[in-house]
Amino acid sequence: MKLWGGRFTKEENQLVHNFNESLSFDRKFYRQDIRGSIAHVTMLAKQGIVSEEDKEAIIGGLEGILSDLDEGRLEFTAEHEDIHSFVEANLIERIGDAGKRLHTGRSRNDQVALDMKLYCRDEIGEIDALVKKLLEAILKIMEENLDTYMPGFTHLQKAQPVTLAHHMGAYFEMFARDRGRLHDIYERMNYCPLGSGALAGTTYPLDRDYTAKLLGFYGPTLNSMDSVSDRDYVIELLSALSLISMHLSRFSEEIIIWNSNEYRFVEIDDAYSTGSSIMPQKKNPDIAELVRGKTGRVYGALMSLLTTMKGIPLAYDKDMQEDKELTFDAIDTVKGCLALFTGMIATMTFRKDVMEASAKNGFTNATDAADYLVNHGVPFRDAHGIIGRLVLMCIDKGIALDDLPLEDYQAVSPVFEADIYDAIGMKTCVQRRETVGAPGHEAMAEVVERYRKMLEE
Ligand code: ARG
Repeated sequence: MKLWGGRFTKEENQLVHNFNESLSFDRKFYRQDIRGSIAHVTMLAKQGIVSEEDKEAIIGGLEGILSDLDEGRLEFTAEHEDIHSFVEANLIERIGDAGKRLHTGRSRNDQVALDMKLYCRDEIGEIDALVKKLLEAILKIMEENLDTYMPGFTHLQKAQPVTLAHHMGAYFEMFARDRGRLHDIYERMNYCPLGSGALAGTTYPLDRDYTAKLLGFYGPTLNSMDSVSDRDYVIELLSALSLISMHLSRFSEEIIIWNSNEYRFVEIDDAYSTGSSIMPQKKNPDIAELVRGKTGRVYGALMSLLTTMKGIPLAYDKDMQEDKELTFDAIDTVKGCLALFTGMIATMTFRKDVMEASAKNGFTNATDAADYLVNHGVPFRDAHGIIGRLVLMCIDKGIALDDLPLEDYQAVSPVFEADIYDAIGMKTCVQRRETVGAPGHEAMAEVVERYRKMLEE
């Protein structure tokens, strides 16, 4: 059934209908659509635009549709163009003429702008809760591993020793920023477009402040043309989702490397691994790989909507219907990734012995050896050169700096004394790094405490 049949003399071609319809996907926000309509008609009655009686009938009908859809008693039938037409047609079927008054002072343009906003706003809350759970899982690992040593890398080459708490803290920071971004988007988007009409407002005495308040917005939007054609907040959300995906993907990549036979820093739990159909020995990190892989489609959604929006003249144009499928997909994808990823890291085993042994070799203490010389008055650049020569000597002998005899040290620089071995001990190297944000136990413990408070707020 069409909402706009009056002006037309021919039946719509089936292919045109199929191409034009959005019910197959915008049914996803039927709850938001009904919530918006209830607020709209409540306001219409308050303003005397519809009678109290009609309002009661309309709300009753809408609530009936909602519960019938929730419980699967009502099916979406393909002849309707979109969720707005579907709900309105159903309402009229249920309550008769009163139902025909619901759309007074409203257009599908401000209706869809509202529905999409309500949907994104609800989802922001859910995504935020999932990111928070992930942060809790990360923080737990941090709290348990303030003294678990591991190599820190640059260029994927061993650089300096750090702790597992410190490494995990980097991800805590990333996901905490992601929450901040979700919060910022919410603050900026939380203004109500309903009452903007098709593009130029309406002649009815609508109380837009009232509808905005009923729907939990800070207030009404201030330009009706912008209101019906603004999808900035969807793009911002897709951008925030892209960053979350990027962070999950980097983390996944590390877990895949750490879980490899060569590294063996972690072992992913059996429940989050899969086998090979041909190689009996295999236990593959499929979940981490899929999380990494799905990043592509989230980025795709962002690029797609940016491109869709770039040439659209004011105000509403049908192009904007393209905002939905990819946004829904990106939201569901990221929510799925967050939930699975959190489960995976919460059940993963860290092989502390392997990590610590790895931190001990690979000259991760070379900087500290140079610092030792600096502390004895040698200029840093000279110290760098001296330690470089000692490292070469060690590589030649196949030993670590810790095992190089004192005579060898002193042959290159007379500054070295027997206390060099303490100064370059791996644990000393980490524990002496006590600047804010560094891996030393005290510094890290303070940060962990702040994170704990942050999550409790
Ligand atoms: N299904 C449309 C969308 O998603 C709803 C708005 C339709 N408005 C219109 N005048 N065609 O954007």
